Amino acid sequence: RKKLLADVDCGTDDAQAIMMALADPNVELLGVTCVHGNTTVENVCKNTLRVLQACNKLEIPVFKGADKPILGNAIDAGHFHGLDGLGDAPCPNPPSQDLVQEESAVSAMIRIVNENPGEVSLVATAPLTNLALAVRMDPSLPSKLRGLYIMGGNTDSRGNTTVCAEFNFAADPEAAYIVLKDYCCPTYLACWEFTCHSKLSWEFCDAWLAQDTDKARFMARIFRHSIEASRSERCEKEFVAGTGFVSCDSYAMAAAMDDSFILEYDEYPVSVELTGTHTRGMMVMDTVGFLKGKEAPKKAFIMKKVDMKKFEQMMMAALK
Ligand code: BDR
Ligand code: CA
Repeated sequence: RKKLLADVDCGTDDAQAIMMALADPNVELLGVTCVHGNTTVENVCKNTLRVLQACNKLEIPVFKGADKPILGNAIDAGHFHGLDGLGDAPCPNPPSQDLVQEESAVSAMIRIVNENPGEVSLVATAPLTNLALAVRMDPSLPSKLRGLYIMGGNTDSRGNTTVCAEFNFAADPEAAYIVLKDYCCPTYLACWEFTCHSKLSWEFCDAWLAQDTDKARFMARIFRHSIEASRSERCEKEFVAGTGFVSCDSYAMAAAMDDSFILEYDEYPVSVELTGTHTRGMMVMDTVGFLKGKEAPKKAFIMKKVDMKKFEQMMMAALK
């Protein structure tokens, strides 16, 4: 079984990605580490437990991580995911918060990877604060990962949070910079524009949510807010290629779950803008080879085309 660790800011698409992993018998989800992002880290822990509860998998350990970025204040994405991160939908039977582990997310990340050297794929679908702190505490961590799968960044300077920056990178540019510079394991990026160009249709979304299962009913409740937001004027503009059902985080998860999911990719050194009047948090790709020597970032695989048939099947299975 493929060993995965998920680092999330459990909004609605993180929930979809987690449910996708839990539905695959060939995947073992070793734990979920939580970080600030779509909502507060406290809400992220609550939401993650709700998702695990909906899948009858509360035995999977959940760890609380950083409550804010390395520099500055936390931002959120309440306009899309709802203020609580899961659509502000009623939660009649909340799981006990005592289920959140005592161990911090950063320690757990380091421990779990060291216990399984070379075997764990880390799927990071949130601001990269936990991961940046982990690599500073244990610089050998990257070399012990099987792969790193990130949803974040942008290839075309199209922002969904600021003019030029995608949410996960905008929410902690320094962390993204550290992770991309110091990570020497194969790193795969599902960037904003790619996810927008790979969107699913609303017809698919309707059929997906209409499945006669408790998981589909749970998703229909928490996702209503995001569906409405997707049709707003703001998202019409943000979503690069017109609105549609964009489950950004699920692309990173699907790539970690199935080695043949990515059909085409670019391979370039990738970094993040840390200053700039309008560009802080923007991903920077060195397509020519300008960045050399000690300061050069590592190359990453940037997803361009994926197996959409497989993606639809994996999404469907997530709610079965
Ligand atoms: C990313 O930002 C968050 O709102 C989503 O969960 C996803 O990880 C998309 O930019
Ligand atoms: Ca996310």
